[in-house]
Amino acid sequence: MTLLNGKHIVLGVCGGIAAYKSVELCRLLVDAGAHVAPIMTSDAEHFIGKVTLSALASEPVHTTLWDDADPIPHTRLGQRADLIVVAPTTARVLGAYAAGISSDLLTATLIATRAPVLVCPAMHTEMWEHPAVQENIATLRRRGVNVLDPESGRLAGGDIGAGRLADPQRIFDEIVQLLPPGDLYGTHVVVTAGGTREPIDAVRVIANRSSGKQGYAIAAEANARGAKVTLISTVELAVPFGVTLIQVETAQQMQDAVNMSAQQADVVVMAAAVADMRPVVTSTSKMKKNPKTGVIDGLESIALEATPDILANLGASKRVGQVLVGFAAETENLVANAQAKLQRKNVDLIVANNVADTGVGFGHETNAVTLVANGAEPVVVGLSDKRSIAKSVMDAVVLIRSHSTH
Ligand code: PMT
Repeated sequence: MTLLNGKHIVLGVCGGIAAYKSVELCRLLVDAGAHVAPIMTSDAEHFIGKVTLSALASEPVHTTLWDDADPIPHTRLGQRADLIVVAPTTARVLGAYAAGISSDLLTATLIATRAPVLVCPAMHTEMWEHPAVQENIATLRRRGVNVLDPESGRLAGGDIGAGRLADPQRIFDEIVQLLPPGDLYGTHVVVTAGGTREPIDAVRVIANRSSGKQGYAIAAEANARGAKVTLISTVELAVPFGVTLIQVETAQQMQDAVNMSAQQADVVVMAAAVADMRPVVTSTSKMKKNPKTGVIDGLESIALEATPDILANLGASKRVGQVLVGFAAETENLVANAQAKLQRKNVDLIVANNVADTGVGFGHETNAVTLVANGAEPVVVGLSDKRSIAKSVMDAVVLIRSHSTH
């Protein structure tokens, strides 16, 4: 399921008998594709073990402001979160949050975030109905904090009444309401990244300068917008949580992997720099230098042949409604060359980068592109980081999809 793909959720767990239900909630969130960062208060550790949540969540449990490798974990956790859910929330944490007191990592994170917060109180009926708790709840609601009221039922010690933590599935449904799925939810996006390497012998290859950063940024963006993402790459960088990585090396391997993944895909983005030519003959052992002549016998020249044109093959078998995106690495006549590629390879969008310009294309953290689509004016996206470029590319993809489905 990809309902929460790419969403960062902080799961706060306070010390109450209902803490065990946070384990089930954590599993529901992770299964839905969310990245879950758990925070436990010291009291919560009396009820469940840190190992349990660490094993199920996307990163180890955070417990204090002081033990983390990060010197300011609360701001990092709070800034990165798309949502913070606290389940169960005790009267103490409600009170501290309402009063703006940051006495531990969880309360500090709650105060340090601008993300939506969902608190799920759980406590004995007498405590829940206490005017102080009710006033704190009212204060938090007034400030825009979402409160999922506790249910009535069996409480600790056999008592019955209001104060029981809402069912994990209800909490999950509430989170989904607060985090609507992205505009690529329900789609399968295939992305290629990196430069292919074509072997000459056991140690030498024909390669290019692609780092894979632009392709990875596209995969991360599609993932964050709810797509199921398959990334076919020659390099292994930090794989965004939820993205499936298929590692390849040569153009032929990339073609085979694309053939397997792309048939049912809704969108294919060819950001990889695929070698156009490869050696006709390759040696499985290392070719040796001749000590007398100083040259490698048999390597005075290399006979080359064309690799498969993966994008053109995709264009030739394009399904109705499928969106194909190619890149064009050019050093001159950017738009004219991109338009020619658009027609020749039967694709919907060409992302053209002038790789002769400073900070553009191969290896850089930044890129600058012109988006060339059929029947539309080219759109220039100025020099920016590769994730911002990826956003513009996926915006264009969403627009093309909306035209083809209406
Ligand atoms: O990886 P980075 O360091 O972040 O750099 C990003 C990038 C410069 C590699 C990227 O922005 C880019 O331009 N990728 C495409 C590079 C390229 O191969 O351009 P091209 O004009 O040669 O190819 C046109 C299109 O056909 C590309 O989508 C390419 O993936 C595809 N192609 C090319 C040859 C081939 N045999 N098969 C293909 O599918």
